[in-house]
Formats: sequence, C-alpha cells, structure tokens
Amino acid sequence: MSPPLVLLLSGPNLGLLGARQPEIYGTATLADHVETAVAAGAAAGLAVEHLQSDHEGTIVEAVHAARGRAAAIVVNAGALTHYSWALHDALAAFDGPVVELHLSNPGGRDAWRHTSVVTPVATAVIAGLGGAGYRLALDAVASLLAPAR
Ligand code: DQA
Repeated sequence: MSPPLVLLLSGPNLGLLGARQPEIYGTATLADHVETAVAAGAAAGLAVEHLQSDHEGTIVEAVHAARGRAAAIVVNAGALTHYSWALHDALAAFDGPVVELHLSNPGGRDAWRHTSVVTPVATAVIAGLGGAGYRLALDAVASLLAPAR
C-alpha cells in the first residue's frame, strides 16, 4: 500500500524565502523547508507533495484536487491567510485534517495579520517556530491520522 499523501501548500511570496525579510523569516529557502517536511513525512510513513503559488486560484484549485486524493493538508498560505475566504471555503470542503503553518507568529505582528480566515477551518495551527514548524507540522499530521488514543 502506498503511504498516505500530505499536500503541502505554500502561498504568495513564500518562493522568496531565504532572501525575503530574513530577520523575520530566516535564511532557509522554501526548498530547504520542503526537504525538512519530506524527511519528517518519510520518517512518519507519509508522502509529501508540495505546491507553491502566488495565485489564489491555483491554491484553491490544489485544495479541490486534494479531495479524495490527499489524507491531509499542511498550508502556509502567506498573506492569503488573512483575507482569502475562497481558500477558507475550499479547505472547509476538504475531509481530512488541515494544519495551518506559519514561520513567524502573525499574532505578534501587524494588526492586519491577527485575523486568520484559515484558522476556523484548521485542525491545528503551528506558528512562530521558524523552519522547525515544517517538521512539527508533519509530526502533527502523523498524530492526527493515527487512531485516537
Ligand atoms: C507567514 C505570515 C503571513 O502573515 C505572511 O503574509 C507570510 C508568511 C509566515 O509564514 O510567517 O507571507 O505566513
């Protein structure tokens, strides 16, 4: 049997990680974070597929395509987190666990970052832990997919 699939989604501007505001987001690139997630997934018996897009519709369509195919979604939606009701609705129509992930802690930053439209449809939220969040998000998915104890 093939391992359960986890869709890792990266929203707008995350392709610039490494060069973008390193004092906030660190110096690791998105490829580094994906490598971390893939390794943590493999260690937990999960396959990870990653998509980055700067386009809201592409992220929404990826959530649609995950229905019935992916067991869980990990999403760092970037700024879409704070206003994309389209992403909210798409995630609400996804059956499995959704882990909302942020490198920084948006709640400790600008007021407009304090609202997340993803949180109401997320199973869990990981924020403020930098790149370690990618490993922790896959550990969280493994725990959420495991039979309840
Ligand atoms: C972010 C936080 C968001 O507020 C911001 O728009 C991002 C990155 C994070 O990972 O800390 O693009 O999601």
